[in-house]
Amino acid sequence: MEAADVPMSSELFRAQAHIYKHAFSYANSMVLGCAVQLGIPDAIHSHKQPMTLSELVSVLKLPPAKSNEIHRLMRLLVFSGFFTTTKLRDENSENQEEGYVLTASSKLLLKSEIPNLSPFVRATVDPVMVNPWKFLGNWFLGNGKPPFETAHGAPMWEFCDQNPRFNNVFNEAMAGDSQMMCLVVKDCKQVFEEIDSLVDVGGGTGIIAKTILAAFPHLKCTVLDLPHVVANMPETENLKYVGGDMFQSIPSADAILFKHVMHNWSDENCVKILKRCREAVKDKNEGRKGKVLIIDIVLNRDDEEADMTEMKLIFDVLMMVVLNGKERTEKEWEKLFLEAGFTTYKITPVFGLRSLIEVFP
Ligand SMILES: C[S@@+](CC[C@H](N)C(=O)[O-])C[C@H]1O[C@@H](n2cnc3c(N)ncnc32)[C@H](O)[C@@H]1O
Repeated sequence: MEAADVPMSSELFRAQAHIYKHAFSYANSMVLGCAVQLGIPDAIHSHKQPMTLSELVSVLKLPPAKSNEIHRLMRLLVFSGFFTTTKLRDENSENQEEGYVLTASSKLLLKSEIPNLSPFVRATVDPVMVNPWKFLGNWFLGNGKPPFETAHGAPMWEFCDQNPRFNNVFNEAMAGDSQMMCLVVKDCKQVFEEIDSLVDVGGGTGIIAKTILAAFPHLKCTVLDLPHVVANMPETENLKYVGGDMFQSIPSADAILFKHVMHNWSDENCVKILKRCREAVKDKNEGRKGKVLIIDIVLNRDDEEADMTEMKLIFDVLMMVVLNGKERTEKEWEKLFLEAGFTTYKITPVFGLRSLIEVFP
């Protein structure tokens, strides 16, 4: 081999590793799903100190013969940043044992805490979410129905209506995702203090509405979602549920909120929904300033960490696979607002991957 070939082949081997890393990246999802299924973060949390492998195996009631396999599972999860290890002091032993410790990421997977993203992980690795990806190529090749519909015989929201198990899995995942808002909603004073009423459209089981109400108890909140999502939800003085279709009508209020909803829909459908909002949002002429609040991804907005950008692009393709939706750049959002009859908007990047977009008549 010529000396000049060496960098070339090392580059190709790096490229090979790059391909394999992406081709196998489902292994990361499945290993994380397995950790959540076994309750590994909860076991380490309950232990209240670094936990050795044998303690972990014993608490999880796994056969001791599987210890080495759990060690290998944990080795990958430590490498991926879900746990760390620390050396334990044991004067009687020559080999210093290591104990597993939670990281910021695994602390967000604890079932006993809020926010808890373990239902989100469970939904992501559920076969209902995984199977449609297998049909993406055929869909590009013109095989009619969108991937989710090809895999499951019905569009996503219809499927949820017909399948109580997955409906529950999905709603719990979204509720966990919405719990993240409790970390910052109280910092959004001027957004919620100047309004008296709010409708959360596609608000699921009402976690966002409850979070907002906890910080701003003066509000009257209504959650509008499909009937199978809000059936039998317990109401309070300030929190009502309406089963309905946002394309038909949206109750009137000072503010109309959409979290993680607009990205489920095509531009055409978003304009239809926003036109409904334009009718429902109270007008400046009525003495208050009505607005639409959108919590969703804005693409290409800031210089951000590569992980954030990659996750936004993954969400964009996910929307293509499971719904006929998309993520949008600021320009694309603006076009929808103007087309629906709104005049101005303000974007505040407060929710990590998602921004808060206030849209004004
Ligand atoms: C991605 S989830 C977001 C849930 C919630 N906003 C959150 O972020 O936790 C989208 C929601 O839109 C609801 N949805 C779908 N079609 C709808 C319609 N036509 N009218 C009202 N809600 C709808 C779904 O049932 C689901 O709860």
